[in-house]
Amino acid sequence: MPVSSPPSSQGASSTSDSAAAGSSPISRLNNIASHIAPKMASTTNFPSDVVPQAPEDPLFGLMAAFRADESPDKVDLGIGAYRDDNAKPWILPVVKKADEILRNDPDLNHEYAPIAGIQSFTSKAAELMLGADSPALKEKRSASIQTISGTGAVHLGALFLAKFFKGNRTVYVSNPTWANHHQIFSNVGIPTKQYPYFDKKTKGLDFEGMKNAIKDAPERSIILLHPCAHNPTGVDPTLDQWKELAEVIRSKNHFPFFDSAYQGFASGNLARDAASVRYFIEQGFELLIAQSFAKNFGLYGERAGCFHAVTAPGPDAQTTISRIASQLAILQRSEISNPPLYGARIVSLVLNDAKLFAEWEDNLTTMSGRIKDMRNSLRAKLEELGTPGTWNHITDQIGMFSFTGLTEEQVMRLRKESHIYMTKNGRISMAGLNTKNIDYFAKAVHAVVSSSS
Ligand code: LMR
Repeated sequence: MPVSSPPSSQGASSTSDSAAAGSSPISRLNNIASHIAPKMASTTNFPSDVVPQAPEDPLFGLMAAFRADESPDKVDLGIGAYRDDNAKPWILPVVKKADEILRNDPDLNHEYAPIAGIQSFTSKAAELMLGADSPALKEKRSASIQTISGTGAVHLGALFLAKFFKGNRTVYVSNPTWANHHQIFSNVGIPTKQYPYFDKKTKGLDFEGMKNAIKDAPERSIILLHPCAHNPTGVDPTLDQWKELAEVIRSKNHFPFFDSAYQGFASGNLARDAASVRYFIEQGFELLIAQSFAKNFGLYGERAGCFHAVTAPGPDAQTTISRIASQLAILQRSEISNPPLYGARIVSLVLNDAKLFAEWEDNLTTMSGRIKDMRNSLRAKLEELGTPGTWNHITDQIGMFSFTGLTEEQVMRLRKESHIYMTKNGRISMAGLNTKNIDYFAKAVHAVVSSSS
């Protein structure tokens, strides 16, 4: 294998000339390399028993399979990303405006963000999640740090817990939960266990199962909760149920960690979608929150997110939170140094401007409203067709996803026979449905359900 030569700055004879002569240092190196190369090729520090082939990520694998499908009828109900009525990604009009403002800002540069991120972004992100009048904000006992979207925020929280949490170092997650939760926590050495969540019979919440499992978990366990629009089921506790859960969590001194990826996407109302988190804070819990702006701003690839730590009220609360913030900054520095700017700048512009904020709320209503329309329409069509089973869960569930109750076999048949893509657990991204494909989808579901029941 030839070794490329460094450019000569002294105008010496060309490499190819001297290599042809067979005596240059380069040609000697070539000879040595050709002797040792075969031996090196056969050895690796990473044989398959050490580094086995990993399975493809189910969601991103599904996305690739959908893209490769050439059928004109194909329907993408896989990844949780909003689509408009033409099945196209939707750039929120308010995001377009903010982008325009950014591009015309003569003072904008590409310097590093501070380690904890853009302060005008993190402070407003905290208000959005905790509420502007939150006791935690008034008493200055929260810390907020910008992250690589929600995944980065969950990871930062997991890393912080792995390093500093002295309770039961196990995180209890809902069964099912977003698949990435398991690997984010296990990557930092915190094992996951599951609490019951989805009741297969009612296709609603197994509240008793959830509550009892949390009650039975060893004292001071970490409890991961989705504040709204649960992924993948679309099933949320009511506020009264959240209150009961808070009591159980308090009675066992558990540690709540909220993962909020869909604020404003469930009910369409930002405060209502954050009610569970705000209630826990009012109750004086010490807790963590991961916050994503991927879905509610349509900034999926821009990775805008925030992590919040809130400590309990008390005379030492401010010094506690300042110690926590200092350690978070060190973790952040070693992991990503400092967060990316673009997405957070967009969000910050919108959250800091009353007019843009109101427009954002309108955009959220457009998205959540279209999803609700699709829920109503899908349920009506399945009922009209007389598809076996009950379909009220389609409209009872909330947010981006519906857990249809379709079996893996039915899901695979839909993919093979009708080019309809959804995750194997029967989750559909409601935003993938539109006025043009909903009939096709309902008929395809009717066909597989009728022929398998
Ligand atoms: C989803 O569940 O589809 C989204 O949260 C995308 C992802 O990263 O998994």
